[in-house]
Amino acid sequence: MTDMHRCRICRGVVAEFFDFGRQPISDAFLEPGQVENEFFFRLAVGVCQSCTMVQLLEEVPRDRMFHHGYPYRSSESTFMSKHFEQVARRFLETELTGDDPFVVEIGSNDGVMLRTVSEAGVRHLGVDPSSGAAGAAATAGVRVRTDFFEESSAIDIRAADGPAHLIFSANTTSHIPYIDSIFRGVDALLADDGVFVFEERYLADIIGQTAFDQIYDEHFYLFSIRSVQNMAERFGFQLVDAEHLPVHGGAVRYTIARPGRRKPTRAIDDFLAREEADGLTEPAAFERFATDVRKVRDDLMALLRKLRADGRTVVGYGATAKSATAVNYCGITEELVPFACDSTPAKQGKLMPGSHIPVRAPSAFGNPYPDYALLFAWNHAEEIMLKEREFRDSGGRWILYVPNVHVV
Ligand code: SAH
Ligand code: TYD
Ligand code: ZN
Repeated sequence: MTDMHRCRICRGVVAEFFDFGRQPISDAFLEPGQVENEFFFRLAVGVCQSCTMVQLLEEVPRDRMFHHGYPYRSSESTFMSKHFEQVARRFLETELTGDDPFVVEIGSNDGVMLRTVSEAGVRHLGVDPSSGAAGAAATAGVRVRTDFFEESSAIDIRAADGPAHLIFSANTTSHIPYIDSIFRGVDALLADDGVFVFEERYLADIIGQTAFDQIYDEHFYLFSIRSVQNMAERFGFQLVDAEHLPVHGGAVRYTIARPGRRKPTRAIDDFLAREEADGLTEPAAFERFATDVRKVRDDLMALLRKLRADGRTVVGYGATAKSATAVNYCGITEELVPFACDSTPAKQGKLMPGSHIPVRAPSAFGNPYPDYALLFAWNHAEEIMLKEREFRDSGGRWILYVPNVHVV
């Protein structure tokens, strides 16, 4: 039994349900020859016995993850670019129709969502501490503040720009252990009838698909409808809508408002009933998950070892943050997967964290094609398989490990 852990939100007792052991920072790609002093932490996940929030037990200091060299660029996926363009268009027709509306985005990255808002001439501000990504957003015409969103920066923004009618965030709220400060910031910045909308990977999809690689340093919280509802209420807000999204392997868009300002939709009750019926945060669900994760690891390693013994070549596709957990937890080495290709310039020529598997440009993929490609970016399967259809046509096979190990 390890030390008793307390919930980062409500101080309740957190019951650990999986320990991935020593893991690196998932987006900390290394320069070849600079692998000494790599940072590791214990990646373990548990569920709060009081508020049901699923969370990591150890936190990585935020400046170690989000800084000038943070390599992730949302716009590398055409599918996600289209998704966020649609998100922006919808907001322009709904929340941003008043007189001089103002929208703030937390974690605006390369401006994937706000560039559409900017083109529409609507007042906006992106907040993101990763200056490389923020610079890309500025180049795309987005107004950005290179900073962490938290209570103090939110107060500054309110003083300079006035209240925000919409505060939006995607795949960032879950990255912020100090979420109490985010809610105090939202309280300081949000107009009385404004909404705070955020999209995040959904716990039910992660557990249901054994998508264990969604658990890594940046994903500090894994949200469910129940836990987000509890969290909103704890910080003086109300969850008023929830919508399932077919992105990143299954996500939910949560809409939060000041209490009594908006009528909660039926979707919330439907989600809550489903989570209850499925026993989503019951111990049995996490025990099943743990068993399934170990089976995926064993099946994947058995397959990779057999392919190697048979003289087959395997290349990784997509040096995702997720792959850090998949690779390092399963024990995949350069011997089994000699390199991974990725379209992100800032990752190419570097080494994947922990495993030190080299990252190369996608042009290396077909030069010549390997026998098998291990799809680390499985959440972009459709987009990538379409782009790389020649690989399949010439006899290549894709290996996937979500929801189980299979070859297509
Ligand atoms: N919204 C984009 C980017 C997600 S990546 C998308 O959905 O694709 C997460 C981003 O959050 C990174 O760019 C990181 O720099 C940023 N981030 C992390 N902590 C933050 C904070 N406290 N305030 C604002 N942005 C933050
Ligand atoms: P993603 O799955 O979006 O996120 P995370 O890093 O949080 O797990 O990352 C997708 C990665 O895959 C990113 O590094 C870019 C890369 N990629 C390609 O190389 N080619 C492609 O066609 C797409 C869509 C992504
Ligand atoms: Zn709690």
